[in-house]
Amino acid sequence: MEKNLTISYKEFDNWKELSADDIELVEKAFDVSKDAYAPYSKFYVGASLRMEDKSIILGSNQENIAYPSGLCAERVALFYAGAIYPNLKVKKICVVAKGDLIPKENWVSPCGSCRQVMAESQNRQKEPIEIILVSQNNRVLVFHSVTDLLPFVFNS
Ligand code: THU
Repeated sequence: MEKNLTISYKEFDNWKELSADDIELVEKAFDVSKDAYAPYSKFYVGASLRMEDKSIILGSNQENIAYPSGLCAERVALFYAGAIYPNLKVKKICVVAKGDLIPKENWVSPCGSCRQVMAESQNRQKEPIEIILVSQNNRVLVFHSVTDLLPFVFNS
């Protein structure tokens, strides 16, 4: 039997249409993307987490000349959050990327490993994490849960 899977997500023309809290989250993600260490890809990614106590945790991609030793912005932020605030839930994650090599209308769609790590955080806290993706030309996609980006996720 053939079956279909649907996901729902929101799209906005400009991130300035978001709530004041989310605008702050997007601004911080763009700010921290400037701190990315990406001399090899020149792909400067920023990730910002909105935590349940309203604080924001940031991460940027950190590359290495031995390529696999680097880490994506999302995982830098999520692992920092897990290491320092293990009991604080993550409400939202915003991901942006800057770089001349990236088409302005493209969202940085999190890689498979980052989706798996997001899924672990979501499972651990038993509450969905919203994902906000913003392109360089300011367009936005909002996913309600990590499972929308990673259906049939591996779990026990
Ligand atoms: N990167 C991220 O930081 N997040 C993603 O979701 C995709 C890719 C980084 C990894 C590497 O430093 C550069 O972007 C190019 O792949």
